[in-house]
Amino acid sequence: MKTYRIAVIPGDGIGKELAPEGMRVLDAAARAAGGFSLEYEIFPWGCDYYVQHGMMMPEDGLKTLSTFAAIYFGAVGYPELVPDDVSLHGLLIKLRLGFDQYVCLRPSTLLPGVKSPLRGVKPGDIDFVTVRENTEGEYAGAGGRMHPGQPSELAIETAVFTRAGCERVIRYAFELARSRPRRMLAHATKSNAQKHTLTFWDQIFDEVARDYPDVKTERVLVDAMAARFVLKPGSLDVVVASNLFGDILTDIGGAITGSLGLSASGNIDPERRYPSMFEPVHGSAPDIAGKGIANPIAMAWSGAMMLDFLGEKRAGALIEAAIRAVTAEGTTLTPDLGGTATTTQVTDALVAKVNGLA
Ligand code: NAI
Ligand code: MG
Repeated sequence: MKTYRIAVIPGDGIGKELAPEGMRVLDAAARAAGGFSLEYEIFPWGCDYYVQHGMMMPEDGLKTLSTFAAIYFGAVGYPELVPDDVSLHGLLIKLRLGFDQYVCLRPSTLLPGVKSPLRGVKPGDIDFVTVRENTEGEYAGAGGRMHPGQPSELAIETAVFTRAGCERVIRYAFELARSRPRRMLAHATKSNAQKHTLTFWDQIFDEVARDYPDVKTERVLVDAMAARFVLKPGSLDVVVASNLFGDILTDIGGAITGSLGLSASGNIDPERRYPSMFEPVHGSAPDIAGKGIANPIAMAWSGAMMLDFLGEKRAGALIEAAIRAVTAEGTTLTPDLGGTATTTQVTDALVAKVNGLA
């Protein structure tokens, strides 16, 4: 029997509550699908670790993680203890960059039984995937600050777009679009205003598009794309965007599909040189941490994406089907979806569905 070694980083806040619940769902799916098992190692890295050691993870953290099949990540951030830019850059962003996880995959799907805040939209109407560039662009960290405290104080943040970096993520998005029935790919740009970086992005998109004549493409300015997410989400199939644009757009994607507690993501190295990392889109939610009411569905769905990536398609599909069954039934939901169930009760329901569907 195949065994996958999974590095689990629960992190902070609700991440600590959700990681064990996600593992329960993963184990149920592994048992139900058969043929493989998961072996976890848990790493207590995050803001508590920072308070004790002055860093978010050990110096050799990347090396330690490099031998695992995948990373299952909760959430990071405890702004009362550690400034957010320190915690995010010291752990999550370090892993994304260190393992060259250049694709951030974020599905936006309206689940059965879940109400979208959009009028007249029903399950099935929203089902698209955003491919966000995850290693460069506006997050390159190139820049600096000068003359602190002086009237002349200034800050510069430079976006970095490389040919290789744009091409690989755009190509990934084309391949994904080609694998889906509608074969549509829209790219977000702002080349009317950003005349160096985003004209370059447009040019590379058009070059790569020549290799995919069977995919219907569209160039959409990012402000119009934001409106499109709200007004006509059904017209989207696959969307590819730079790091910052993708980040902002996918929060809209989460909002229109009912709750941040449902949105899952994968940080992927498609070449599989390094472990890929799967995590909910949401953060550590300090406002509800410790109350036992965080929605475990985003965590479980991220686990399904991880199994799918590892090649355990049936186990991944079982978790997705269980999620759909639980939301469709509507009797066991956490407060973010209007229910009164606890995190544990929703996980129990997911596990029962996985077992029942197998
Ligand atoms: P957040 O995503 O933690 O919370 C936003 C709102 O959504 C809160 O009202 C929260 O209660 C709710 N929410 C989030 N996940 C939920 C779930 N599973 N079930 C039910 N409700 C849920 O974003 P916020 O408040 O802006 O940031 C809090 C901390 O998280 C900060 O330190 C921030 O830097 C960090 N963060 C970390 C991320 C990551 O680890 N990937 C992503 C976003 C924020
Ligand atoms: Mg975000």
